[in-house]
Amino acid sequence: MMKVVHTVADLKAELKAQRLANKSVGLVPTMGALHAGHASLVTRSLAENDVTVVSIFVNPTQFNDKNDLAKYPRTLENDCKLLENVLEIFVKKELIAFAPTVEEVYPEPDTRQFSYPPTDEVMEGGFRPGHFNGVCQVVSKLFMMTEPDRAYFGEKDFQQIAVIRRMVDDQKFPLQICPCPIVREEDGLALSSRNALLSPDERKIAVSISQALFASQHYAKSHTLKETKQWVIDTINAVEGLEVQYYEIVDGNSLLSLNEWDDSDYVVGCITVFCGAIPVRLIDNIKYKSC
Ligand code: PAF
Repeated sequence: MMKVVHTVADLKAELKAQRLANKSVGLVPTMGALHAGHASLVTRSLAENDVTVVSIFVNPTQFNDKNDLAKYPRTLENDCKLLENVLEIFVKKELIAFAPTVEEVYPEPDTRQFSYPPTDEVMEGGFRPGHFNGVCQVVSKLFMMTEPDRAYFGEKDFQQIAVIRRMVDDQKFPLQICPCPIVREEDGLALSSRNALLSPDERKIAVSISQALFASQHYAKSHTLKETKQWVIDTINAVEGLEVQYYEIVDGNSLLSLNEWDDSDYVVGCITVFCGAIPVRLIDNIKYKSC
């Protein structure tokens, strides 16, 4: 059964009864505009927990660009339909869609500062100052409101997971972080709510990002890390309408940039690319070595 709640009081009231019945709770934090990538997180949470809370909240504190916040897609009705569909095969499970207002989540401005260097300083941290602080603010609030046993995050936001892991350690949240693999379109483009902002022509060229990343796994076999990094950047920049903001090949835990393939057993390439004339910022990543 699915319920939609809009206040923290209603969410807590729903969860109180579940907790008393000793039911496990999974949390899937989202900013809505749900797609098959989110559906995979919700499916996993439904499979692993008695109750799943899906938060749908476009969090203003993690946007360092007001324009980006204003144009972020908001599609609550469709989101609820998608959740109903996902829930259909889980007859005995409960799903709570938690869609609060900004005032409900932030009755007072959140002045807390979270700092987890180097994970929150590199890559997105450098290009989007304050972004991860906002992510930690809202995710910590969601953890406190929901008190989940498990929380599910997509690996498309690879860096976000590393930062949240640090926050969970630091704040001693008694829960398990469950990373879930990137879900891709048939042609390879990583699913993202931002893909909805691409024109048909931009959508066509956006596929070059994942194509270059996949091809680089092969290229990497006979080239140095630095050559591979440059090859990915040049290959994507050669496509008219795409511009790489950064491509870093990093250690998958510390997120520090590597110089040689042998410098780590967990090697991940993380990319951000601007696509189109009114640029849509797309991110993706690829594993060269996983542990
Ligand atoms: O990944 C996202 O959609 C957001 O950063 C999150 C985790 C829901 C926090 O607002």
